[in-house]
Amino acid sequence: MTVEKIKRLFSDKMSGKTVSIAGWVRTRRDTKGFSFLEVNDGSCLANIQVIADPSIANYNSQIRKLTTGCSVMVTGTLTESPAKGQSVEIKAEKVVVAGWADPEEYPLQKKRHSFEFLREIIHLRPRTNVLGGVTRVRSRLSFAIHRFFQEQGFTQIHTPVITTSDCEGAGEMFQVITGYEGAAVVGERGAGKEFFGKRAGLTVSGQLQAEVYAQALGSVYTFGPTFRADNSNTSRHLAEFWMLEPEMAFCDLDCNIRIAEALLKYLLADVVEHCAEDMALFDRFIEKGLLHKINHVIDNDFVHITYTEAIEQIEKSGKNFQFPVSWGVDLQSEHERYLTEEVYGLPLIVTDYPAAIKPFYMRVNKDKTTVAAMDILVAGIGEIVGGSQREERYNVLLGRMQEGGITVEDYQWYLDLRKYGTTPHSGFGLGFERLIQFVTGMHNIRDVIAFPRTPGFAPC
Ligand code: 4AD
Ligand code: MG
Repeated sequence: MTVEKIKRLFSDKMSGKTVSIAGWVRTRRDTKGFSFLEVNDGSCLANIQVIADPSIANYNSQIRKLTTGCSVMVTGTLTESPAKGQSVEIKAEKVVVAGWADPEEYPLQKKRHSFEFLREIIHLRPRTNVLGGVTRVRSRLSFAIHRFFQEQGFTQIHTPVITTSDCEGAGEMFQVITGYEGAAVVGERGAGKEFFGKRAGLTVSGQLQAEVYAQALGSVYTFGPTFRADNSNTSRHLAEFWMLEPEMAFCDLDCNIRIAEALLKYLLADVVEHCAEDMALFDRFIEKGLLHKINHVIDNDFVHITYTEAIEQIEKSGKNFQFPVSWGVDLQSEHERYLTEEVYGLPLIVTDYPAAIKPFYMRVNKDKTTVAAMDILVAGIGEIVGGSQREERYNVLLGRMQEGGITVEDYQWYLDLRKYGTTPHSGFGLGFERLIQFVTGMHNIRDVIAFPRTPGFAPC
């Protein structure tokens, strides 16, 4: 049984029942004739107290030698605990030691460690309270994403990791080559032949392929790893991150915005309900007032402004930003955070960005200078969602591709979707790690993914 289940279900009826649990020792405390083990099995934040006494065969030879990090399998009786703050404990009948952890070497001590240090022991950091909690919240959010879309009648699709299209066109694709081609690149074995017959890379977004399926199944979503080779060493960028991308046929920008806002509120409410123990930990130790912030977002409408209004607000702020802005310039995180944190105090949906700073696929507005884009900005992070209504008019899209210097033949399949039963359609990308940062209050994006990849960092 997991500790989570025991704690959730414990009642008088369970008292005296025999259970087995397995986990890692957090601490051992001895009194005369007893040892108290705090065991954590990862199913929840709370440890369970195990009480062992000399009637157990290996009490002196093993139990009294257990230290932090050792793994144990315990069988015993559940009893209501007399100790403060613990509803239930296990009176052990059998303790099997599965693995020892040399206390001289075990790097995790009872004190709090810095997140930087924990990244150096990436194989052990999920054993800490905070990283364990982040992992459980991440898992729950992933589940809630599927639940939301499945309940709304969306179909999940699996878009490719290796692709020959560059959706965002920002030159941030990792190239995919075989060892043989790689050798050719460094000049060891003559000319290499590309495996796919043309340049391929790791996907920067599943959107273009998702559009194909939206034009047949109506409402679809893809949720998977995404890769960007931008050299940004910030607290919000990863080279490998997860993105959720819904795509809806017969859906304009307003419809897109409604779905994004409903999704975010659903996910926040779900996590507050189902991860209460972990969320209380984050509220206490990671971001004071976190739960208040989240409930405020759940209970209030997001603010809508246009890019042009955003620029006006920033210009009249009189603030000294590192990057000055004027109409036509892209917003930086400092501007996004100023708007959402200081001006509005709520998530902000910014629409209608200049066409020149957005990718070719976004629908051109009537003014011919802006596109039907929408970014959602949140406190502490800035952009969490980027989306748009897509250009469904063949000739307008073709013109945008030509202007952008895109090799049209490579995207003929994408253009063709506009030839055979085109629809007004839209979608967005939600950065999964940025969502987890917002939900947990974790400052650095590297601490909300199991194995972060950033420039110069991919230890396993
Ligand atoms: O705004 P982006 O680049 O949008 C797209 O890729 C669209 N094709 C999505 C769509 O319309 N289907 O990225 C979407 C989101 C961003 O808002 C951000 O939250 C996240 O992905 N993101 C990153 N997260 C972590 N590390 C990075 N390097 C990220 N780049 C983008
Ligand atoms: Mg974006």
